[in-house]
Amino acid sequence: MSEADNAPGSAPAFTPRVFSGIQPSGGLTLGNYLGALKRFVEKQEEGIESIYCIVDLHAITVWQEPDKLRRATREMAAGFIAAGIDPERSILFNQSQVSAHAELAWLFNCVVRMGWLSRMTQFKDKAGKNRENASAGLFVYPSLMAADILAYHATHVPVGEDQKQHLELTREIAGKFNHDFGVDFFPLTEPLIEGTATRVMSLRDGTKKMSKSDASDMSRINLTDDADTIAQKFRKARTDPEPLPEAVEGLAERPEARNLVNIYAALADCSTADVLAQFGGQGFGVFKPALADLAVEKLSPINAEMQRLMRDPDEIDRILGRGAERADAIARPILERCYEIMGMVRSRPPR
Ligand code: AMP
Ligand code: TRP
Repeated sequence: MSEADNAPGSAPAFTPRVFSGIQPSGGLTLGNYLGALKRFVEKQEEGIESIYCIVDLHAITVWQEPDKLRRATREMAAGFIAAGIDPERSILFNQSQVSAHAELAWLFNCVVRMGWLSRMTQFKDKAGKNRENASAGLFVYPSLMAADILAYHATHVPVGEDQKQHLELTREIAGKFNHDFGVDFFPLTEPLIEGTATRVMSLRDGTKKMSKSDASDMSRINLTDDADTIAQKFRKARTDPEPLPEAVEGLAERPEARNLVNIYAALADCSTADVLAQFGGQGFGVFKPALADLAVEKLSPINAEMQRLMRDPDEIDRILGRGAERADAIARPILERCYEIMGMVRSRPPR
Protein backbone atom coordinates (compact mmCIF):
# COMPACT_ATOMS: atom_id res chain seq x y z
CA MET A 1 0.00 0.00 0.00
CA SER A 2 1.34 3.42 -0.84
CA GLU A 3 1.08 6.49 1.30
CA ALA A 4 -1.35 7.95 -1.19
CA ASP A 5 -4.00 5.50 -0.02
CA ASN A 6 -4.26 7.24 3.32
CA ALA A 7 -3.91 4.09 5.41
CA PRO A 8 -6.35 4.11 8.34
CA GLY A 9 -4.88 6.03 11.22
CA SER A 10 -3.11 8.52 9.00
CA ALA A 11 -5.01 11.76 8.50
CA PRO A 12 -6.71 11.55 5.12
CA ALA A 13 -5.92 14.72 3.25
CA PHE A 14 -8.29 15.32 0.40
CA THR A 15 -7.88 18.61 -1.43
CA PRO A 16 -11.23 20.38 -1.81
CA ARG A 17 -12.64 19.56 -5.24
CA VAL A 18 -16.14 20.10 -6.58
CA PHE A 19 -17.88 17.73 -9.01
CA SER A 20 -21.42 17.80 -10.35
CA GLY A 21 -23.39 16.54 -13.32
CA ILE A 22 -26.57 17.14 -15.28
CA GLN A 23 -28.25 14.70 -17.66
CA PRO A 24 -28.63 15.75 -21.30
CA SER A 25 -32.08 14.17 -21.40
CA GLY A 26 -33.76 17.37 -22.59
CA GLY A 27 -33.23 21.12 -22.29
CA LEU A 28 -32.16 23.00 -19.17
CA THR A 29 -34.95 24.31 -16.93
CA LEU A 30 -35.14 27.13 -14.40
CA GLY A 31 -34.92 24.35 -11.76
CA ASN A 32 -31.57 23.19 -13.16
CA TYR A 33 -30.39 26.78 -13.35
CA LEU A 34 -31.30 27.82 -9.80
CA GLY A 35 -30.76 24.45 -8.10
CA ALA A 36 -27.55 23.53 -9.88
CA LEU A 37 -25.95 25.73 -12.57
CA LYS A 38 -26.01 28.99 -10.60
CA ARG A 39 -24.37 27.19 -7.68
CA PHE A 40 -21.73 25.67 -9.99
CA VAL A 41 -20.73 29.15 -11.12
CA GLU A 42 -20.49 30.31 -7.49
CA LYS A 43 -18.12 27.44 -6.66
CA GLN A 44 -15.96 28.29 -9.67
CA GLU A 45 -15.88 31.94 -8.55
CA GLU A 46 -14.83 30.87 -5.04
CA GLY A 47 -11.73 29.47 -6.70
CA ILE A 48 -12.32 25.80 -5.81
CA GLU A 49 -11.20 23.35 -8.49
CA SER A 50 -14.49 22.46 -10.22
CA ILE A 51 -15.38 19.64 -12.58
CA TYR A 52 -18.74 19.69 -14.40
CA CYS A 53 -19.99 16.81 -16.43
CA ILE A 54 -22.82 16.32 -18.89
CA VAL A 55 -23.79 12.80 -17.94
CA ASP A 56 -24.76 11.18 -21.24
CA LEU A 57 -24.22 7.65 -19.86
CA HIS A 58 -26.83 8.40 -17.19
CA ALA A 59 -29.25 9.78 -19.79
CA ILE A 60 -29.37 6.46 -21.71
CA THR A 61 -30.76 4.60 -18.68
CA VAL A 62 -34.04 5.61 -20.33
CA TRP A 63 -34.47 5.64 -24.13
CA GLN A 64 -32.79 8.53 -25.97
CA GLU A 65 -33.08 9.24 -29.69
CA PRO A 66 -29.38 9.38 -30.79
CA ASP A 67 -29.65 12.62 -32.77
CA LYS A 68 -31.57 14.32 -30.00
CA LEU A 69 -29.04 13.16 -27.41
CA ARG A 70 -26.17 14.62 -29.42
CA ARG A 71 -28.00 17.92 -29.76
CA ALA A 72 -29.04 18.04 -26.10
CA THR A 73 -25.43 17.37 -25.03
CA ARG A 74 -24.15 20.30 -27.08
CA GLU A 75 -27.02 22.53 -25.99
CA MET A 76 -26.32 21.72 -22.37
CA ALA A 77 -22.64 22.57 -22.82
CA ALA A 78 -23.73 25.88 -24.35
CA GLY A 79 -26.02 26.41 -21.33
CA PHE A 80 -23.19 25.80 -18.86
CA ILE A 81 -20.90 28.25 -20.65
CA ALA A 82 -23.67 30.85 -21.14
CA ALA A 83 -24.51 30.63 -17.42
CA GLY A 84 -20.92 31.47 -16.53
CA ILE A 85 -18.88 28.25 -16.46
CA ASP A 86 -15.48 29.12 -17.89
CA PRO A 87 -14.13 25.99 -19.60
CA GLU A 88 -10.56 27.14 -18.92
CA ARG A 89 -10.94 27.62 -15.17
CA SER A 90 -13.37 24.73 -14.63
CA ILE A 91 -13.32 21.38 -16.39
CA LEU A 92 -16.38 20.84 -18.62
CA PHE A 93 -16.89 17.61 -20.54
CA ASN A 94 -19.36 14.86 -21.38
CA GLN A 95 -19.15 11.67 -19.37
CA SER A 96 -18.81 9.08 -22.17
CA GLN A 97 -15.51 10.64 -23.32
CA VAL A 98 -13.80 9.59 -20.06
CA SER A 99 -14.00 5.81 -19.77
CA ALA A 100 -12.92 5.85 -16.10
CA HIS A 101 -16.58 6.59 -15.21
CA ALA A 102 -17.91 3.39 -16.74
CA GLU A 103 -14.98 1.31 -15.45
CA LEU A 104 -15.25 2.54 -11.87
CA ALA A 105 -19.03 2.10 -12.01
CA TRP A 106 -18.47 -1.60 -12.68
CA LEU A 107 -16.15 -1.89 -9.69
CA PHE A 108 -18.78 -0.14 -7.56
CA ASN A 109 -21.52 -2.46 -8.86
CA CYS A 110 -19.57 -5.14 -7.02
CA VAL A 111 -19.39 -3.05 -3.83
CA VAL A 112 -22.96 -1.72 -3.67
CA ARG A 113 -25.68 -4.04 -2.32
CA MET A 114 -28.97 -4.80 -4.12
CA GLY A 115 -30.84 -3.73 -1.00
CA TRP A 116 -29.23 -0.28 -1.04
CA LEU A 117 -30.18 0.23 -4.68
CA SER A 118 -33.75 -0.98 -4.06
CA ARG A 119 -34.32 1.88 -1.63
CA MET A 120 -33.62 4.61 -4.19
CA THR A 121 -36.72 6.74 -4.76
CA GLN A 122 -35.52 7.99 -8.16
CA PHE A 123 -35.49 4.40 -9.43
CA LYS A 124 -38.97 3.77 -8.05
CA ASP A 125 -40.26 7.01 -9.61
CA LYS A 126 -38.65 6.47 -12.99
CA ALA A 127 -39.34 2.74 -13.29
CA GLY A 128 -42.95 3.25 -12.19
CA LYS A 129 -45.24 0.23 -12.12
CA ASN A 130 -43.46 -1.58 -14.90
CA ARG A 131 -40.19 -2.43 -13.12
CA GLU A 132 -39.57 -5.61 -15.10
CA ASN A 133 -39.29 -3.48 -18.20
CA ALA A 134 -36.90 -0.85 -16.79
CA SER A 135 -33.31 -1.06 -18.04
CA ALA A 136 -30.77 -2.67 -15.70
CA GLY A 137 -28.83 0.58 -16.12
CA LEU A 138 -31.62 2.50 -14.42
CA PHE A 139 -31.26 0.24 -11.38
CA VAL A 140 -27.47 0.61 -11.10
CA TYR A 141 -27.58 4.32 -11.97
CA PRO A 142 -26.33 5.28 -8.46
CA SER A 143 -23.12 3.20 -8.89
CA LEU A 144 -22.30 5.28 -11.95
CA MET A 145 -23.07 8.47 -10.07
CA ALA A 146 -20.79 7.41 -7.21
CA ALA A 147 -18.10 6.63 -9.82
CA ASP A 148 -18.51 10.10 -11.37
CA ILE A 149 -17.81 11.72 -8.05
CA LEU A 150 -15.23 9.36 -6.58
CA ALA A 151 -13.13 9.03 -9.76
CA TYR A 152 -12.01 12.57 -8.93
CA HIS A 153 -11.89 12.17 -5.14
CA ALA A 154 -14.40 15.03 -5.16
CA THR A 155 -15.09 16.39 -1.70
CA HIS A 156 -18.16 18.55 -2.44
CA VAL A 157 -21.11 18.05 -4.77
CA PRO A 158 -23.55 20.92 -5.42
CA VAL A 159 -26.98 19.52 -6.33
CA GLY A 160 -30.70 20.12 -5.88
CA GLU A 161 -32.63 18.53 -3.03
CA ASP A 162 -33.75 15.55 -5.14
CA GLN A 163 -30.17 14.17 -5.31
CA LYS A 164 -29.64 13.92 -1.56
CA GLN A 165 -30.38 10.20 -1.38
CA HIS A 166 -27.95 9.40 -4.20
CA LEU A 167 -25.21 11.31 -2.38
CA GLU A 168 -25.85 9.40 0.82
CA LEU A 169 -25.44 6.20 -1.20
CA THR A 170 -22.19 7.54 -2.65
CA ARG A 171 -20.88 7.95 0.91
CA GLU A 172 -22.01 4.42 1.77
CA ILE A 173 -20.16 3.01 -1.25
CA ALA A 174 -16.99 4.96 -0.39
CA GLY A 175 -17.25 3.85 3.24
CA LYS A 176 -17.75 0.18 2.36
CA PHE A 177 -14.88 0.20 -0.12
CA ASN A 178 -12.54 1.81 2.43
CA HIS A 179 -13.66 -0.63 5.10
CA ASP A 180 -13.49 -3.80 2.95
CA PHE A 181 -10.00 -3.04 1.66
CA GLY A 182 -8.63 -1.42 4.83
CA VAL A 183 -7.83 1.94 3.25
CA ASP A 184 -9.01 5.55 3.44
CA PHE A 185 -8.83 5.81 -0.31
CA PHE A 186 -12.15 7.48 -1.13
CA PRO A 187 -13.39 10.65 0.60
CA LEU A 188 -16.84 10.79 2.19
CA THR A 189 -18.21 13.44 -0.12
CA GLU A 190 -20.35 16.29 1.25
CA PRO A 191 -23.51 17.32 -0.56
CA LEU A 192 -23.94 21.08 -1.05
CA ILE A 193 -27.68 21.75 -1.12
CA GLU A 194 -27.85 25.50 -0.74
CA GLY A 195 -29.97 28.56 -1.48
CA THR A 196 -33.69 29.32 -1.66
CA ALA A 197 -34.30 27.22 -4.76
CA THR A 198 -33.00 23.75 -3.97
CA ARG A 199 -36.36 22.40 -5.13
CA VAL A 200 -38.11 24.52 -7.75
CA MET A 201 -41.66 23.25 -8.21
CA SER A 202 -43.84 22.87 -11.31
CA LEU A 203 -45.75 26.00 -12.32
CA ARG A 204 -48.86 23.85 -12.73
CA ASP A 205 -48.66 21.91 -9.46
CA GLY A 206 -46.85 23.24 -6.39
CA THR A 207 -46.33 19.73 -5.00
CA LYS A 208 -44.38 18.41 -8.03
CA LYS A 209 -40.76 19.17 -8.95
CA MET A 210 -40.18 21.31 -12.05
CA SER A 211 -38.75 18.80 -14.49
CA LYS A 212 -37.44 18.72 -18.05
CA SER A 213 -39.39 15.51 -18.57
CA ASP A 214 -42.85 16.81 -17.50
CA ALA A 215 -45.38 16.31 -20.31
CA SER A 216 -46.63 19.90 -20.00
CA ASP A 217 -44.27 22.60 -21.25
CA MET A 218 -46.32 25.14 -19.25
CA SER A 219 -45.07 23.47 -16.05
CA ARG A 220 -41.52 24.72 -16.53
CA ILE A 221 -39.40 27.63 -17.71
CA ASN A 222 -36.79 26.44 -20.21
CA LEU A 223 -33.53 28.35 -20.57
CA THR A 224 -34.37 28.49 -24.28
CA ASP A 225 -37.78 30.19 -23.75
CA ASP A 226 -38.09 33.70 -25.17
CA ALA A 227 -39.30 36.69 -23.12
CA ASP A 228 -42.95 36.40 -24.20
CA THR A 229 -43.09 32.71 -23.37
CA ILE A 230 -41.55 33.29 -19.93
CA ALA A 231 -44.06 36.07 -19.18
CA GLN A 232 -46.98 33.94 -20.36
CA LYS A 233 -45.90 30.92 -18.30
CA PHE A 234 -45.65 32.98 -15.10
CA ARG A 235 -48.96 34.72 -15.86
CA LYS A 236 -50.66 31.33 -16.20
CA ALA A 237 -48.83 29.74 -13.25
CA ARG A 238 -51.25 28.19 -10.80
CA THR A 239 -51.76 30.21 -7.59
CA ASP A 240 -54.36 30.75 -4.88
CA PRO A 241 -56.55 33.89 -4.74
CA GLU A 242 -54.99 35.36 -1.54
CA PRO A 243 -52.54 38.27 -1.57
CA LEU A 244 -48.93 37.47 -0.59
CA PRO A 245 -48.35 37.29 3.19
CA GLU A 246 -46.17 39.74 5.10
CA ALA A 247 -44.14 36.98 6.82
CA VAL A 248 -42.47 33.77 5.62
CA GLU A 249 -44.67 31.60 7.93
CA GLY A 250 -47.68 32.72 5.87
CA LEU A 251 -46.33 30.64 2.96
CA ALA A 252 -46.30 27.35 4.87
CA GLU A 253 -49.59 25.98 3.52
CA ARG A 254 -49.36 27.71 0.14
CA PRO A 255 -46.98 25.64 -2.04
CA GLU A 256 -47.61 27.56 -5.29
CA ALA A 257 -47.15 30.98 -3.68
CA ARG A 258 -44.08 29.73 -1.83
CA ASN A 259 -42.56 28.43 -5.04
CA LEU A 260 -42.95 31.74 -6.89
CA VAL A 261 -41.54 33.70 -3.95
CA ASN A 262 -38.58 31.31 -3.70
CA ILE A 263 -37.91 31.66 -7.43
CA TYR A 264 -37.97 35.45 -7.11
CA ALA A 265 -35.58 35.34 -4.13
CA ALA A 266 -33.15 33.01 -5.92
CA LEU A 267 -33.17 35.13 -9.09
CA ALA A 268 -32.71 38.37 -7.14
CA ASP A 269 -30.09 36.84 -4.79
CA CYS A 270 -32.06 37.88 -1.71
CA SER A 271 -34.04 36.06 1.02
CA THR A 272 -37.74 35.15 0.88
CA ALA A 273 -38.26 37.61 3.78
CA ASP A 274 -36.82 40.39 1.58
CA VAL A 275 -39.26 39.48 -1.20
CA LEU A 276 -42.20 39.55 1.21
CA ALA A 277 -41.04 42.88 2.66
CA GLN A 278 -41.44 44.25 -0.83
CA PHE A 279 -44.55 42.38 -2.05
CA GLY A 280 -46.41 41.34 1.16
CA GLY A 281 -50.08 42.37 0.97
CA GLN A 282 -50.00 42.59 -2.85
CA GLY A 283 -51.87 40.25 -5.14
CA PHE A 284 -50.46 38.05 -7.89
CA GLY A 285 -51.65 40.62 -10.43
CA VAL A 286 -48.70 42.72 -9.25
CA PHE A 287 -46.26 39.99 -8.24
CA LYS A 288 -46.39 37.78 -11.34
CA PRO A 289 -45.45 40.53 -13.84
CA ALA A 290 -42.61 41.64 -11.53
CA LEU A 291 -41.38 38.02 -11.35
CA ALA A 292 -41.64 37.64 -15.14
CA ASP A 293 -39.62 40.85 -15.67
CA LEU A 294 -36.92 39.70 -13.26
CA ALA A 295 -36.75 36.25 -14.88
CA VAL A 296 -36.47 37.77 -18.36
CA GLU A 297 -33.78 40.17 -17.17
CA LYS A 298 -31.69 37.31 -15.72
CA LEU A 299 -32.39 34.63 -18.32
CA SER A 300 -32.39 36.45 -21.64
CA PRO A 301 -28.63 37.13 -21.70
CA ILE A 302 -28.09 33.41 -21.02
CA ASN A 303 -30.57 32.50 -23.71
CA ALA A 304 -28.91 34.81 -26.26
CA GLU A 305 -25.43 33.50 -25.46
CA MET A 306 -26.63 29.88 -25.75
CA GLN A 307 -28.00 30.57 -29.21
CA ARG A 308 -24.76 32.22 -30.26
CA LEU A 309 -22.70 29.26 -29.03
CA MET A 310 -25.02 26.75 -30.68
CA ARG A 311 -24.19 28.25 -34.06
CA ASP A 312 -20.72 26.72 -33.75
CA PRO A 313 -21.17 23.10 -32.63
CA ASP A 314 -17.60 22.23 -33.68
CA GLU A 315 -16.25 24.69 -31.12
CA ILE A 316 -18.50 23.15 -28.44
CA ASP A 317 -17.17 19.70 -29.35
CA ARG A 318 -13.59 20.98 -29.09
CA ILE A 319 -14.29 22.40 -25.63
CA LEU A 320 -15.83 19.12 -24.46
CA GLY A 321 -12.93 17.14 -25.93
CA ARG A 322 -10.32 19.27 -24.19
CA GLY A 323 -12.28 19.09 -20.94
CA ALA A 324 -12.40 15.30 -21.26
CA GLU A 325 -8.62 15.12 -21.63
CA ARG A 326 -8.10 17.17 -18.48
CA ALA A 327 -10.69 15.10 -16.59
CA ASP A 328 -9.06 11.86 -17.74
CA ALA A 329 -5.67 13.01 -16.41
CA ILE A 330 -7.20 13.21 -12.92
CA ALA A 331 -9.46 10.16 -13.01
CA ARG A 332 -7.15 7.60 -14.68
CA PRO A 333 -4.53 7.40 -11.90
CA ILE A 334 -7.25 7.18 -9.23
CA LEU A 335 -8.92 4.35 -11.16
CA GLU A 336 -5.57 2.57 -11.58
CA ARG A 337 -4.96 2.66 -7.80
CA CYS A 338 -8.46 1.36 -7.27
CA TYR A 339 -7.80 -1.65 -9.55
CA GLU A 340 -4.57 -2.35 -7.67
CA ILE A 341 -6.22 -2.08 -4.27
CA MET A 342 -8.85 -4.59 -5.44
CA GLY A 343 -6.24 -7.08 -6.59
CA MET A 344 -6.19 -6.72 -10.38
CA VAL A 345 -2.89 -7.36 -12.17
CA ARG A 346 -2.03 -4.20 -14.14
CA SER A 347 0.94 -4.98 -16.37
CA ARG A 348 0.30 -3.35 -19.74
CA PRO A 349 3.27 -1.26 -20.86
CA PRO A 350 2.50 2.47 -20.81
CA ARG A 351 1.31 3.82 -24.18
P1 AMP B 1 -31.34 16.55 -13.80
O1 AMP B 1 -32.07 17.51 -14.65
O2 AMP B 1 -32.25 15.57 -13.12
O3 AMP B 1 -30.16 15.93 -14.47
O4 AMP B 1 -30.75 17.43 -12.61
C1 AMP B 1 -29.56 18.16 -12.72
C2 AMP B 1 -29.34 19.02 -11.50
O5 AMP B 1 -30.38 20.00 -11.38
C3 AMP B 1 -29.34 18.25 -10.18
O6 AMP B 1 -28.41 18.85 -9.30
C4 AMP B 1 -30.74 18.44 -9.67
O7 AMP B 1 -30.82 18.32 -8.28
C5 AMP B 1 -31.02 19.87 -10.13
N1 AMP B 1 -32.46 20.07 -10.33
C6 AMP B 1 -33.25 19.44 -11.23
N2 AMP B 1 -34.52 19.86 -11.14
C7 AMP B 1 -34.55 20.76 -10.12
C8 AMP B 1 -35.58 21.54 -9.52
N3 AMP B 1 -36.84 21.48 -9.94
N4 AMP B 1 -35.24 22.35 -8.49
C9 AMP B 1 -33.95 22.43 -8.05
N5 AMP B 1 -32.94 21.72 -8.57
C10 AMP B 1 -33.22 20.89 -9.60
N1 TRP C 1 -28.24 11.99 -10.85
C1 TRP C 1 -28.12 13.38 -11.16
C2 TRP C 1 -29.50 13.93 -11.58
O1 TRP C 1 -30.33 13.20 -12.03
C3 TRP C 1 -27.11 13.65 -12.25
C4 TRP C 1 -25.75 13.20 -11.86
C5 TRP C 1 -25.06 12.14 -12.37
C6 TRP C 1 -24.89 13.79 -10.89
N2 TRP C 1 -23.84 12.03 -11.81
C7 TRP C 1 -23.70 13.03 -10.90
C8 TRP C 1 -25.02 14.87 -10.03
C9 TRP C 1 -22.64 13.32 -10.03
C10 TRP C 1 -23.95 15.16 -9.17
C11 TRP C 1 -22.77 14.39 -9.17
O2 TRP C 1 -29.72 15.09 -11.45
